[in-house]
Amino acid sequence: MGNNLTVIGCGYVGAVLAEYWQQQGHWVTGTATNPERVDLLQSTLAQARQVRGDDAQAISEVVSNQATVVVCVAPPRAQASDPTVYAATYLPLAQNLVKAIQQAAQPLQVIYLSSCSVYGDRQGAWVDETVPIVPTTDHMQILYEAEQTLLQADSSSNSVCILRLGGIYGPGRELLKRYANLAGKTLPGKGDRIINWIHLADIVGTIEFARANHLAGIYNVVDDSVMTVREQVALVCAQHQLPPAIWDESQPAQAVKNLRVSNQKLKTAGYPLIYPKLVA
Ligand SMILES: NC(=O)c1ccc[n+]([C@@H]2O[C@H](COP(=O)([O-])OP(=O)(O)OC[C@H]3O[C@@H](n4cnc5c(N)ncnc54)[C@H](OP(=O)(O)O)[C@@H]3O)[C@@H](O)[C@H]2O)c1
Repeated sequence: MGNNLTVIGCGYVGAVLAEYWQQQGHWVTGTATNPERVDLLQSTLAQARQVRGDDAQAISEVVSNQATVVVCVAPPRAQASDPTVYAATYLPLAQNLVKAIQQAAQPLQVIYLSSCSVYGDRQGAWVDETVPIVPTTDHMQILYEAEQTLLQADSSSNSVCILRLGGIYGPGRELLKRYANLAGKTLPGKGDRIINWIHLADIVGTIEFARANHLAGIYNVVDDSVMTVREQVALVCAQHQLPPAIWDESQPAQAVKNLRVSNQKLKTAGYPLIYPKLVA
């Protein structure tokens, strides 16, 4: 028998997840902020609603009578660098969700999509879910605060699972789109920083695994590839017959994040990655 499942934020990840669950026979409610997107969702899901995270009443209504609520919310890409927009997207929603969970009549499982960005730059070191988080930017602070707020709702009757995702790729967000413009170019630095990725199919797979196995707590969700950006660009160029990029070590690399994210906890829990290697 299907369950009542809600997906708050049916964008790139949320829409695919919601449709997958609907096809599995669950009663799925999906939300978006844009009315046209809500109309689209209405054609495939049991229920679609226009909901903003800062609307406490709407959040309370979509949480009511649900077995599992998944949060896949992100600011519009064009505004994501603005800390005010970033905070307004994540923080009121987290606070309203905690209130709604605590007031809900039924036990509830919440699965919250966060990001490995919460770790910041680790200069190439390995990180797992136990490393202390010391936010050094507004974005890190907001992500971490949203996680901490949500975790307050974890209790004997309600469970909260935080999934810290690597960079998302998959159909429509192929690595080719990201790296093709680097083909044949001379790029500054060694290209030796690690970028951690996760395929859309494994995000949906992990969320379903977390639901079915009642996972609680924090899990990193990245693939096994542990490749430098130089290796990634080379892979994409080779796969698509593009001229390789040239790295000029005499030029300083742009200062960016470098860290190796461990997925061991998720694997130990029993999740088998569909795409352990990067697909170019
Ligand atoms: N992109 C990455 O590489 C990456 C990396 C790590 C983690 N993540 C996390 O992965 C999750 C899914 O990302 P995605 O790429 O699927 O995001 P997305 O495609 O941008 O979709 C975001 C969804 O959130 C909704 N939304 C935006 N502002 C909202 C608000 N204030 N209240 C309620 N809903 C709101 C949007 O509504 P509309 O559809 O109406 O616009 C949309 O449905 C997010 O939690 C993100 O933080 C992403």
